[in-house]
Amino acid sequence: MLILEGKKVRLRDWSSADLSAYREWLRPHQEWHQWDGPYFPPPTPQEADDAVGRLAGQLAAGQWPAVRRRMVIADTRTDHLIGTVSWHWESEETEWPRAGITVHDPSQRGRGVGSEALTLWADYLFAATKFRRLDFSTWYGNHAMCSVGLKIGWTEEARFRDARVVRGTVYDSVVYGVTRAQWAGLRLHSSSQSANY
Ligand SMILES: CC(C)(COP(=O)(O)OP(=O)(O)OC[C@H]1O[C@@H](n2cnc3c(N)ncnc32)[C@H](O)[C@@H]1OP(=O)(O)O)[C@@H](O)C(=O)NCCC(=O)NCCS
Repeated sequence: MLILEGKKVRLRDWSSADLSAYREWLRPHQEWHQWDGPYFPPPTPQEADDAVGRLAGQLAAGQWPAVRRRMVIADTRTDHLIGTVSWHWESEETEWPRAGITVHDPSQRGRGVGSEALTLWADYLFAATKFRRLDFSTWYGNHAMCSVGLKIGWTEEARFRDARVVRGTVYDSVVYGVTRAQWAGLRLHSSSQSANY
């Protein structure tokens, strides 16, 4: 099992105990859907079951992709799933990846776990791949996500004005990103100070 240990959270591969919790977090009534791409429909119960079924199949076979696509964010004290990190190709043609993060459990947010998890994820992805850059996309009303991007030193690289509508209000769409060299510099700098999420 791959485990990337942090102070508040660890990123780790899936265990059987995660599956029912994850299925429940995917349900449309869960609050995080209000923040994570609220302009997209949440997964249907069938799509949620299919996603969990695919994870169960990988778990049973003990076969995870060499470069992990989605990992569990687990609380270091309880080891319970509190969220996930992921990545997908924004453009595979030019090897341009995009990261995703969700702290499903609202009671766990706002104490630095999102920033720590995205830092661990970026460390892992830059070490395990030849990615030249990483980014994430969000809407400007998602203050927590924008704050995470700024806090870990990523650059606001794109702003599409008035591109998103959330609950009747218009927001900019924003992309925060980091290059490999920039991340190396940021991590060098942070290791010479104590990380403060
Ligand atoms: C976005 C998310 C991953 C951030 O994780 P987190 O654990 O809350 O992040 P952190 O605690 O590391 O940082 C959040 C920061 O946002 C700030 N913040 C939170 N809500 C805020 C708000 N409404 N206005 C302004 N700042 C806010 C916090 O104060 C904190 O900053 P600080 O450490 O300087 O005080 C998490 O909130 C989440 O999963 N939300 C729901 C799903 C989602 O939005 N996913 C991202 C999709 S792009």
